[in-house]
Amino acid sequence: MMADDAASEEQDLSRLLIEERVFQPPADFEAAAVVQDPSVYERAEADPEAFWAEMAEQLDWYEKWDEVLRWDPPHAEWFVGGKLNACYNCVDRHVHNGRRNQAAIIWEGEPGERRTLTYWDLYQETNKLANALKTLGVEKGDRVAIYMPMIPELPIAMLACARIGAIHSVVFGGFSAEALRDRIVDAEAKVLITADGGYRRGQIIPLKHDADYALRQTPSIEHVIIVERGEFPLRIVQGRDHWYHRLLQEAEPYCEPEPMDAEDILYTLYTSGTTGQPKGIVHTTGGYMTGVLATLRWIFDLKQDDVYWCTADIGWVTGHSYIVYGPLAAGATMLMYEGAPNWPEWDRFWQIVEDHGVTVFYTAPTAIRAFMKWGTQYPQAHDLSSLRLLGTVGEPINPEAWMWYYEHIGGERCPIVDTWWQTETGMILLTTLPGIDYMRPSYAGRPFPGVSAEVLNDAGQPATSGYLAITRPWPAMLRTIYNEPERYVEQYWTKWDKATYFTSDGAKREDDGYFGLLGRVDDVLNVSGHRIGTMEVESALVDHKAVAEAAVVGIADEVKGQVIAAFVTVKEGNEPTAQLSQELQKHVVDKIGAIARPQSVAFAGDLPKTRSGKIMRRLLRDIAEGKVLGDITTLADASVVDELKRRYEEQE
Ligand code: WTA
Repeated sequence: MMADDAASEEQDLSRLLIEERVFQPPADFEAAAVVQDPSVYERAEADPEAFWAEMAEQLDWYEKWDEVLRWDPPHAEWFVGGKLNACYNCVDRHVHNGRRNQAAIIWEGEPGERRTLTYWDLYQETNKLANALKTLGVEKGDRVAIYMPMIPELPIAMLACARIGAIHSVVFGGFSAEALRDRIVDAEAKVLITADGGYRRGQIIPLKHDADYALRQTPSIEHVIIVERGEFPLRIVQGRDHWYHRLLQEAEPYCEPEPMDAEDILYTLYTSGTTGQPKGIVHTTGGYMTGVLATLRWIFDLKQDDVYWCTADIGWVTGHSYIVYGPLAAGATMLMYEGAPNWPEWDRFWQIVEDHGVTVFYTAPTAIRAFMKWGTQYPQAHDLSSLRLLGTVGEPINPEAWMWYYEHIGGERCPIVDTWWQTETGMILLTTLPGIDYMRPSYAGRPFPGVSAEVLNDAGQPATSGYLAITRPWPAMLRTIYNEPERYVEQYWTKWDKATYFTSDGAKREDDGYFGLLGRVDDVLNVSGHRIGTMEVESALVDHKAVAEAAVVGIADEVKGQVIAAFVTVKEGNEPTAQLSQELQKHVVDKIGAIARPQSVAFAGDLPKTRSGKIMRRLLRDIAEGKVLGDITTLADASVVDELKRRYEEQE
């Protein structure tokens, strides 16, 4: 339609105009910033290893390294021979250096309770839990699964593992029992730390109850530790299940931190890839801690009196790096909130900012787009003047959302850092440094000092638009995929050469060196900033007895970025009914978790395939987005598409 065309042209134009604009950090911000000297970029570039060694000096080491980097592509070792303990760096050293009584964690539960834990509190709890774990037989190198709500005992559990050298594997509390089971089995975890439950949008999430389902099929688990969050009903298995508070009452007050090799594993964290099986990303100790501490301090400009709030869940890498390890290693004061942004009212986040005087706020574009939709009256009703720096992560931010964030949350006074990174990268790799760089809406910025990135085409030549590649090892990089060393090499280091990391993201690079991210180029979806593999959802669907074949695509959504549209063919004898469609949605939720629920399930007589039998997802996406169909000349049976389109429209 004509009118629509004109409107969308106008939108494109205003988008471009915003993208062209640059925003300078305010003079007073610049003058007080942690990093003020633009020459850091050149200095780091001239000798990256010396730069990272300098950053590593910000940690406390039992033994210094002999070599900064040993690079046998694609295998890197950082700070070879160095010894340190992540928990010591996050807790003990602050108790000894004057931060003992400073708030480490200011916590708010969704129902409204508040707790403040000083570094001393953290020290006491962590020591005791570490001893309790030892009493239960956990040793260095053992795996501990953690399945918890956003309560202070979650970082405490992680730190207690790190203290004794156990490898933690945190499973996001929103994942289903089956997803938990698979992750426990893959890691052969000995202990599970969970809670009776947590709150989300006024509902109780019965974590221990759900975990019990998983625990039926996890022979490696010897003990379960349960934090009492509320007074939620649950079943206790004598001998296996233990209350956290009881264990702590009995535990010795001090546990000597285990001196860990820089390359000892700190944790594994599962993330979605292009197969049905999530990957256990492996992070080690020295390089990871160096990377997260340096980036946290420089990018978030953290100072002693800041109240830093990252709204992510600790179940994702953002929480690992920028709620737990980065901020605590820096001795920061961070805010932690358990629940939903719109509970009990739509202004809950802004109430929290006002009540606690939050100064640095880090969230996801999907949240910002939701705030936009809810309206400016909610932030306007609160005093947000304590804020001085804003950040985003998780997906490309559209210029309109960037502007809204800048104006309505930041009051046009707060720089915004748009931080690009991945579970695999462990730390932020592309960003601006808020005291020296200008901002350009929808552009993440430049490689962090010491990091080297390029946009390459298929042939590996530099291009203005293509794939984002990281062309030099960085300290917090993943070391491997747990139990799958070949997959590590094949997935990340074979697109070009063995020394060039393939990110799976599309990107463009402008003349000023700024990188703009264009989304994933593989079959990984980004739903509300969460990574979900299309193959995982497809596997969950075909697991249902009525399903013969399934194909899943991500379609654009104004708030969530992408939503999942599923196309399914049923087995003989099954009726494609609305009821079955709902049943399949629920089946995916049971298999993976609510975050993976398909927004729609359309039934098809057949799925469009190429002559070689590959499902043409692009075509399905066009159908689901209601677009004019793309090239279908390679299609084996062209009539399939008409049929599909008709059915999809019917079920809409
Ligand atoms: C996307 C989250 C654009 C990207 C830390 C990446 C982004 C994936 C940005 C990793 C950003 C993350 N701009 N896209 N600032 N940050 N992404 O592993 O597609 O959950 O590959 O790590 O999120 O998601 P993950």
